[in-house]
Amino acid sequence: MKRHRLVSLALIALASLISAHSNVDDFLAKYNRLGQQEYYDDSVASWSVAVNLDDKSLPEIAAKADANIAGWEQMMAAQAATQFGDLKSINDTSKKRQLKMIQRVGVKLNSADTIRLSTLLINMTNVYNKNRICPWSKVSRAPNCSVPHEHWWRSDPEMFDRISHSRDYDELAYVWTAWRNISALNKAYFQQYVEMSNKGARQGGFKDTGDYWRSLFESDDLKDMMDQKFQEVLPLYEELYTYIRRKLLAQYPGRFETSAIPAHILGNMWAQDWSDIGDFTAPFPNIATVDITEQMVTQGYTPLKMFQTADAFFQSLGLIKMNDEFWKNSMMVQPQNRSVVCHPSAWDFRNGQDFRIKMCTQVNMANLLIVHHEMGHIEYYMQYAKQPLSFREGANPGFHEAIGDTIALSVVTPQHLQEIGLLNSTSSYEQDINFLFKQALRKVAFLPSGYLIDLWRWSVFDGTYNSSTYNTGWWDLRTKYQGIVPPNNRPVDAFDAGSKYHVISGTPYIRYFFSHIAQFQFYKAMCKAANQTDALYKCDFFNSKEAGDLLSRMLQLGGSLPWPQAMQKITGQQNLDAGAMFEYFEPLQDWLRNENMKAGDCYGWGYTWPDAVMKNLNTPRCGLTLDQ
Ligand code: SER
Ligand code: ZN
Repeated sequence: MKRHRLVSLALIALASLISAHSNVDDFLAKYNRLGQQEYYDDSVASWSVAVNLDDKSLPEIAAKADANIAGWEQMMAAQAATQFGDLKSINDTSKKRQLKMIQRVGVKLNSADTIRLSTLLINMTNVYNKNRICPWSKVSRAPNCSVPHEHWWRSDPEMFDRISHSRDYDELAYVWTAWRNISALNKAYFQQYVEMSNKGARQGGFKDTGDYWRSLFESDDLKDMMDQKFQEVLPLYEELYTYIRRKLLAQYPGRFETSAIPAHILGNMWAQDWSDIGDFTAPFPNIATVDITEQMVTQGYTPLKMFQTADAFFQSLGLIKMNDEFWKNSMMVQPQNRSVVCHPSAWDFRNGQDFRIKMCTQVNMANLLIVHHEMGHIEYYMQYAKQPLSFREGANPGFHEAIGDTIALSVVTPQHLQEIGLLNSTSSYEQDINFLFKQALRKVAFLPSGYLIDLWRWSVFDGTYNSSTYNTGWWDLRTKYQGIVPPNNRPVDAFDAGSKYHVISGTPYIRYFFSHIAQFQFYKAMCKAANQTDALYKCDFFNSKEAGDLLSRMLQLGGSLPWPQAMQKITGQQNLDAGAMFEYFEPLQDWLRNENMKAGDCYGWGYTWPDAVMKNLNTPRCGLTLDQ
């Protein structure tokens, strides 16, 4: 993820010292000069907490730093409003846009409330990162609480790892449920956070926090656009889903019926990325595939080497390499002597030089891809570092999430893995289908889960769900969009949405849904620039300065233009378009279709979509009716 600079603000009514002579240039120059230092100081304080959750003095310092930056932002916004009013007299479009951004405060709270809000977020982070559960004993096939506490399982890595790699239905249900028992501890904090955040959004001129978050896309029709994209990709998801359900029914016979899939057996704590069950679900299980993770371990890969491998790829495109500060200040390995926020993130300290990744890196393929994801954020930060401060943002938040993933689409091609010595094989139809299938488990499986998290949160922020319906609302959406159900009846005080890091850290999520479609558009454009003419999924643009050039021209824009113009610059189109994704997966979609038809399986999980959507889903439907 990209670290989301939350909050805001303390009040500042003393937007007083308005110099009658100052003009736009002076104001913006002052904003940029002071802002770099202000944001840097706040970043330092937040970083200190994230890399050391055990030092009890740090949260207070960080919360005060948040209040400080919030106060500063509000002061500058007020000054801009007083000096330049509605901006009608400003002709220069760039300066006008900067002033507009400076005037938009988002979450506007006074100092005491900002400290309360920051403290709530830190409290939730502590619950998420510090609690442990009794490990599961393979012998007694039950939790074993008699081992010393330091051997109990943390969320990251032990619980997340077990969900990925255990094939014991009961162990999976135990870990899945135990993690959600911990998540429930955050429910009261979350409720207070929603209230405080909404208060700030309203004071900042928005209807609620969801309204503010959506405004970051500058698209009035964002909700409709996302809904339309979801409907477009649903047939591809259903094809994959129907196939996977059949494999899971075979793997766990008698454990569930041909309807919605239990959420805990998809190889991921949040059922959002299914690639870790790729081993027993592969289309051609007998085709020898070299396990990349095994190769990485054999070849002595370390977290550092993984970062260097990613950096080398960016450099091969002629992009900016990671600087000395990056290598010196990043946290690449989980410290063993203290708790940290393990969720990977990329930080822009906003002084134009200090960029860092924080990640509890493990040596495996999934983490290699995450390293590329995070480094994509850093590359974007560096490419737009020369822009004025208010433009040092992605064209929209979805663009930011897409950059490293676009690069990784090239990195994972068998062609590229072979080139860097991690794979040793020649291409065949069966291998290609296996490869595309693994990619679909990463990318297609993600789509509904990436979409629904903010559908849920928008409904929390606008009051559609309240604390007594958080969980039922959550599962309504999980079942409707993803086709999954909990493995057991959920307690009335459960808070299962809080099992997801972005929910308790206040990080918006629709950006990831946007990114999972946009990254295929970017990839296709870069492949074309690199003169790659074979099937899209085979394209590796390693070493292509043309592809790098195309990307960097877009990255350098930062947030200086509305996103459709940035999209135009790299793809020639102005809209989000799932066409490239469909092109990429076409051979797999055909293969899955054929398999599903042969098996005679019904599609879906008993949810009846509105007629317009059903028309698109021209397949035999599973008849089970769920509570709708
Ligand atoms: N990085 C995002 C997450 O962890 C999306 O893949 O949820
Ligand atoms: Zn990210």
